[in-house]
Amino acid sequence: MEFTTNSLEEHWMPFTGNRDFKANPRIVVKAEGTYFIDHKGGTVLDASSGLFCVPLGHGRPEIAKAVHDQLLTNDYTPPFQLGHPGSFELASKVARITPDPINHVFFVNSGSESIDTALKIAMAYHRARGEGHRTRFVSRERAYHGVNIGGVSLAGMVKNRETFSGVMPGVVTMRHTWMEENVFTPGQPTRGVELAEDLTRICETYGGSTIAAVFVEPIAGSTGCLVPPVGYLERIREICDMHGILLVFDEVITGFGRLGHAFASQAFDVTPDIMTMAKALTNGAQPMGAVAVKDEIYETITDAAPENAIEFFHGYTYSGHPAACAAGNVTQDIFQRENLFERAAKLSGYFGEAVHSLKDLECMKDIRSYGLMAAIELKPQGAPGALGTNLQKSLFWDGLHIKFTGDNGIIAPQFIAEEKHIDEMIDKLRGSLSKI
Ligand SMILES: Cc1ncc(COP(=O)(O)O)c(C=O)c1O
Repeated sequence: MEFTTNSLEEHWMPFTGNRDFKANPRIVVKAEGTYFIDHKGGTVLDASSGLFCVPLGHGRPEIAKAVHDQLLTNDYTPPFQLGHPGSFELASKVARITPDPINHVFFVNSGSESIDTALKIAMAYHRARGEGHRTRFVSRERAYHGVNIGGVSLAGMVKNRETFSGVMPGVVTMRHTWMEENVFTPGQPTRGVELAEDLTRICETYGGSTIAAVFVEPIAGSTGCLVPPVGYLERIREICDMHGILLVFDEVITGFGRLGHAFASQAFDVTPDIMTMAKALTNGAQPMGAVAVKDEIYETITDAAPENAIEFFHGYTYSGHPAACAAGNVTQDIFQRENLFERAAKLSGYFGEAVHSLKDLECMKDIRSYGLMAAIELKPQGAPGALGTNLQKSLFWDGLHIKFTGDNGIIAPQFIAEEKHIDEMIDKLRGSLSKI
């Protein structure tokens, strides 16, 4: 397919070197199954499920049809004081796969909005219980919780926050869980549980009763697949319980089967109070996110308001948009019908071994993996991140899409991928990386 346009200039692209990109654009003109087709006609294996959001593969006709039919039947319903069937159906489907007693679902339009919403739910919950003095939040170094002001306030990645002053005050960060001693560990490292005691120290310093919630990605994703040490999440849960602090799992990447279970919460057998999610909720076909909360949180906030009053002054024009719900409902059906969480679990052994086979390469600093998610961390060359950025570009022309953050390449195959796709990823990676 010929790609033509008058100008690339007007579109200010997100998280992109605009000048560099526009001088040498990489345009995807088609996406099908496990592949992209670029504007020069090249075939590119999508080894990161887009941005971790397309586990069912690209171009699923069932999703396209459902969205098309929905737009013709009911394209838009105001979500405040009105409803449409699709959002209730989708909330039930999500609640069915979240751990009990997480049974209430608030819809938003992205992962970033799910974080802002979770922050506000935590504030509203404590206020409703007469604990409005809990104004502090705890996050972690190397955390990524999206790009809205709430998420940036929680962020632990320097580039995402150093430009932006005036973020939310009162956020304290724990250390991240990467440790030199654990390099090249497949799955959960056995060392590092003591890092959870950072939360104890924060409680001792600021007073546990001043903290509203702790936000963690069960596996820190965007920073390069930092798998929690054995016992770490369990200990964070314990400390939260000791101090009445809400535990929020940001499952925007780990949600919907990526770890071989519906959520990381089930994979690690630790139940948070609030879960944020997005991405694979609709297989990336429509922008959508959600926040799922325990019954007690929903009931406390709802019961605190007078009869007939709005209980939670929050929501978006596009919360639970009919087209997004249509995509979400079909996506959730396909996960179940095709047993895709089980398939992800089965493929993860082969995938993990394949990724770790790259360990012998001279350029490799670390490899981490869990489920269908892995990171290859390269030894920096020149400025940190320069190698990763260049490699993401050159790999694309070699027919492989991998999302790099700094010098970490994050690999996340689709759940419909076959062993031959994993082999193709690894062969292409080995070919490119051995030239570094
Ligand atoms: C853990 C996590 N939280 C939040 C977000 C933000 O999601 P979005 O880009 O949809 O706003 C992301 C995006 O990658 C993420 O990985």
